Amino acid sequence: MSQTPFELAGSFQVGTVEFVAPDEIKVSLDIEAPESVAMNTGGPRPFPRVNGYLLIPVDEAFLVGQVEWVTVEPAPFPKRRGLQDFGLVDLPYPLRRLRLKPIGTLRAKSRAGEFVFRRGADALPSIGAPVVLPTDSQLRSIVESGEKKRICIGTSPIAGDARVWVDPDRLFGRHLAVLGNTGSGKSCTVAGLIRWSLEAAKQARSDGRPNARFIILDPNGEYSHAFPPDDPTVKTRVFKVNLGNGETSLKVPLWFWNSAEWCSFTQASAKTQRPALIHALRWVREGLTEPAPDTSHEMRRFLRTLVTIIRTEKNKGTPWAEFPKPKAFFEKLEKWKKGLESEIDSFDGDQQTCLQELVHTIESLCAPRRKQHAHYDFTPSEVEKLLAATSAAHSAFGGSESETFPSDVDAPRPFEGASLVRALEASAEMLDVSEHVETLLVRIRALLADARMKRIMGGATETTLEGWLTDYIGSDGAKNGCVSVLDLSLVPSEVVHVITAVIARMVFEALQRYVKLNGKVLPTVLVMEEAHTFIKRYKEDVENQDAAAVCCQVFERIAREGRKFGLGLVLSSQRPSELSPTVLSQCNTFILHRISNDCDQDLVHRLVPDNLRGLLRELPSLPSQHAILLGWASELPVLVKMHDLPESQRPRSDDPDFWDVWTGKNEKGETVTREIDWKTVAEAWQQGSTERSEEES
Ligand SMILES: Nc1ncnc2c1ncn2[C@@H]1O[C@H](COP(=O)(O)OP(=O)(O)OP(=O)(O)O)[C@@H](O)[C@H]1O
Ligand SMILES: [Mg+2]
Repeated sequence: MSQTPFELAGSFQVGTVEFVAPDEIKVSLDIEAPESVAMNTGGPRPFPRVNGYLLIPVDEAFLVGQVEWVTVEPAPFPKRRGLQDFGLVDLPYPLRRLRLKPIGTLRAKSRAGEFVFRRGADALPSIGAPVVLPTDSQLRSIVESGEKKRICIGTSPIAGDARVWVDPDRLFGRHLAVLGNTGSGKSCTVAGLIRWSLEAAKQARSDGRPNARFIILDPNGEYSHAFPPDDPTVKTRVFKVNLGNGETSLKVPLWFWNSAEWCSFTQASAKTQRPALIHALRWVREGLTEPAPDTSHEMRRFLRTLVTIIRTEKNKGTPWAEFPKPKAFFEKLEKWKKGLESEIDSFDGDQQTCLQELVHTIESLCAPRRKQHAHYDFTPSEVEKLLAATSAAHSAFGGSESETFPSDVDAPRPFEGASLVRALEASAEMLDVSEHVETLLVRIRALLADARMKRIMGGATETTLEGWLTDYIGSDGAKNGCVSVLDLSLVPSEVVHVITAVIARMVFEALQRYVKLNGKVLPTVLVMEEAHTFIKRYKEDVENQDAAAVCCQVFERIAREGRKFGLGLVLSSQRPSELSPTVLSQCNTFILHRISNDCDQDLVHRLVPDNLRGLLRELPSLPSQHAILLGWASELPVLVKMHDLPESQRPRSDDPDFWDVWTGKNEKGETVTREIDWKTVAEAWQQGSTERSEEES
């Protein structure tokens, strides 16, 4: 005789509802309900179990509740079915109670016993309603809910080992945060997600070559172990500072750096140093530091610079509000006039007339101010006149109006480091801040001379922008592989933030431009390991942002806007409480491994909606490899045991083997040795500094 699901449910009853609120339901368990293992659902299943699921029939469906806590309360009499016999004397009896939070509704789909699960409870039960254990197929329907089951990432130990599926569009599309203590399995999870995604995509594609892009920023240098360059299943490019087998040297040319990155690296002060540095960058990017072909071109460049400076100063209002250096603009004019006068005779015709006109205009402005106690302020109309005369001279030399508007100072056009130094000296002189840029020059020269940095930056022409994008993001159809691992472990610590910021920004801007040109996104995933060092909270009110803040800002921008350009962020961190709140709040999916620290627990509690907090109480006691998946990528929060990754596919982060080294052998009885050769260490260490001092001398 076949039973309907609801008849069948009767046999799995474990208790009755005794309290109902929209966000909690209290249940008192029947005396006969299983004590620790339920045997009546088709197989042994732990019950009652915190975070396990129970069903309450409501209308034509089941309300699904997740167990928050289970307790024993002494009751004056045992709970008995049927009428109470008041003639009996009852002894106090331990009654089990549990609390459920309603999470969704389970509906029968067909007669074949299939069910569909939906988030949200449309109707609540009434007091006295029966509470039943779900059958295996019901449990699977709850955990395996969601429409697009594309990648299986593990199983759910509290739901009869039902398989846990995710949809990559949801998982990567709106940023994912993998959080947990050290050793809880974050890196393995990240490596696994990438591998399982690629394997699933491979199977779904007839030619077996997924068009996917994963870029892993790897500060600990552990991922090249999980994705070696010669891996037959996942084609990978590994970029490292030091060359190894099949790995390519990590290259981030200094002409990729934008002005904010230069300013943060050199710690340029906002008032004097930054304008000089930005001027210099604009010059080198426009190739203006190369010698001009003839005097006419040289004059054209000079006039163009004058127009730009006058326009900038006019916009800032400095000529008429020059506190605290009232004479600055006047002195600049005097200097320009001298320069122009010495050149006038080299030209003739229209060009000469225009130059003379300009010199006259300057003279008419300067003459009255040469007197003692003069007012050095200029009026706006005077500055306007000066600008008109300079522009006229500029066009007489063939210059166009559009040239004089500031071009994109951040466009990645190649230049040599030495040209930047020259341009900075020149621009500082022109802006009259030479004495202030000394510290800048020292920092830039030291950077250029550093042998370790030279290896990363290379010459101006060594890398092309196109080549870099092909190598690091991937070529058409991902023919050169789907994964690129960027090993940052040997990047000198004083530049690692800038380098990371540059790489992340270049990837983001490249994808942004791709969308502009193609109208479609190029889905790419950017993985940031150890996110708490690179996406660290910073103080917003500080005037000079250091490199760490600039790096964090890049990731904040990716977190905010990445989705529109197909860039998904995966961040992995041990210290969520140190992460930038902006980035965390933009993450829509979380994989939470064991978290035992108070601050970090508080933080993740605040990230999830109220009714899900109960589930997170399990966080401090999760074994490694287990995690709670919650957020957009999963219909409901589930406890997942991630699939096993074989040793060769795990990121290398072995715990140090103290005992084996102390005792000289490992568990398998193999000898363990650690030879020490400090000589090579010392030499390699000193190598860097000797190379550097040779260049400086
Ligand atoms: N999916 C998995 N398959 C097999 N082993 C795993 C898995 N997840 C975790 N482990 C085990 O747990 C250990 C630690 O994992 P992992 O290196 O990923 O931790 P982590 O959270 O990244 O630590 P850290 O914060 O220090 O980088 C691994 O060396 C491995 O033995
Ligand atoms: Mg790790």
